[in-house]
Amino acid sequence: MKAITYANYGPPEVLQLGEIAKPVPKDDEILIRVRAVEATKTDCEIRAFKFSVIWYWLPLRLWLGITKPRRQFLGGYFAGQIEELGKNATGFSIGDAVFGAAQMRVSAYAQFVTVGTGVNIVLKPGNFDFTDAAAVPLGGLNALHFMRRAQIKPGDRVVINGAGGSIGLHGVQIAKAMGAQVTAVDTTIKEALLRRMGADEFIDYTKEDFTLGDRKWDVVFDMVPGSDYAACIQALNPGGRYLSGNPRLSVMLRSILTSWFTNKTATCAFAQESKEELLALKQMIEEGKIKSIVDQVYPMEQAAEAHRRVETEQRLGAVVIAMGAVAD
Ligand SMILES: NC(=O)c1ccc[n+]([C@@H]2O[C@H](COP(=O)([O-])OP(=O)(O)OC[C@H]3O[C@@H](n4cnc5c(N)ncnc54)[C@H](OP(=O)(O)O)[C@@H]3O)[C@@H](O)[C@H]2O)c1
Repeated sequence: MKAITYANYGPPEVLQLGEIAKPVPKDDEILIRVRAVEATKTDCEIRAFKFSVIWYWLPLRLWLGITKPRRQFLGGYFAGQIEELGKNATGFSIGDAVFGAAQMRVSAYAQFVTVGTGVNIVLKPGNFDFTDAAAVPLGGLNALHFMRRAQIKPGDRVVINGAGGSIGLHGVQIAKAMGAQVTAVDTTIKEALLRRMGADEFIDYTKEDFTLGDRKWDVVFDMVPGSDYAACIQALNPGGRYLSGNPRLSVMLRSILTSWFTNKTATCAFAQESKEELLALKQMIEEGKIKSIVDQVYPMEQAAEAHRRVETEQRLGAVVIAMGAVAD
């Protein structure tokens, strides 16, 4: 089968399309024909081994490979069809269209992937094609996790910093579905898309600092590493919640003090990504609360281009790689 691999850390050109053995599912595994996979910011960060938060460096380098990547594959967020079931694998039928999230446990930059029964896959929403569906799990699961932890009430004023990224775009839609008044912070090229996703207000961070001025927020959802933590906390109303998906070590420590000693709470977390959350996203898609946010679809041969597109930050939505023929 065809797979996109990378033998060394480096720029997008290290991604190579080649032939590797098609995986065979064990008794409790499922073989999926991958139709589409999201090329995520995290894939790019792993490929280049370049992370904006420095404390990730040592643990990740030990885990992923010191001199070169131990696992030469990427892609944990995908959509596809069930091709084969191990003899003890249950819950799906051959031919079922599914979408899923396996973080770094599978390598879906390939035509086929085997997943254990513990991996989060559920039936694909009927109203999304494979490319639309592949664009949801990373951003959707992370955004849902944080928006639930924010305990949003109808009417809450929520600001999402870095709203134009995969996680932020879902955050806007989920916060709106929860009844919030949403302000999106990003660059101007993303304003129209963010308003289409439901943002009530837009702030261009290159022109205005959302933490300054008289406006206060009930929730600050911050996906931008290096934000001014004290300013974000200052910008919260009493009882306000700050959530960071990309925290520096100092922010993690300060967040504990904020939650203990003030009337505000600060949460720094990694989303766990559960099947229940994926099912909730599927339902929101089918109810029209989450829209398709695909920027561009690239064939496997242009995986490096796909990564370049993600890294330019010019994309309006998710970048997807289609396996084989452009996914339908
Ligand atoms: N905590 C978790 O569980 C978790 C899970 C997955 C990923 N992450 C991390 O979360 C980060 C965001 O993920 P993502 O996939 O949403 O990334 P992304 O798609 O690159 O989105 C980041 C967005 O923030 C914007 N931005 C950059 N600087 C900004 C600033 N100073 N103020 C406001 N907006 C700014 C970017 O736009 P421009 O650059 O065009 O300005 C871009 O639209 C990644 O670094 C990833 O590693 C965390």
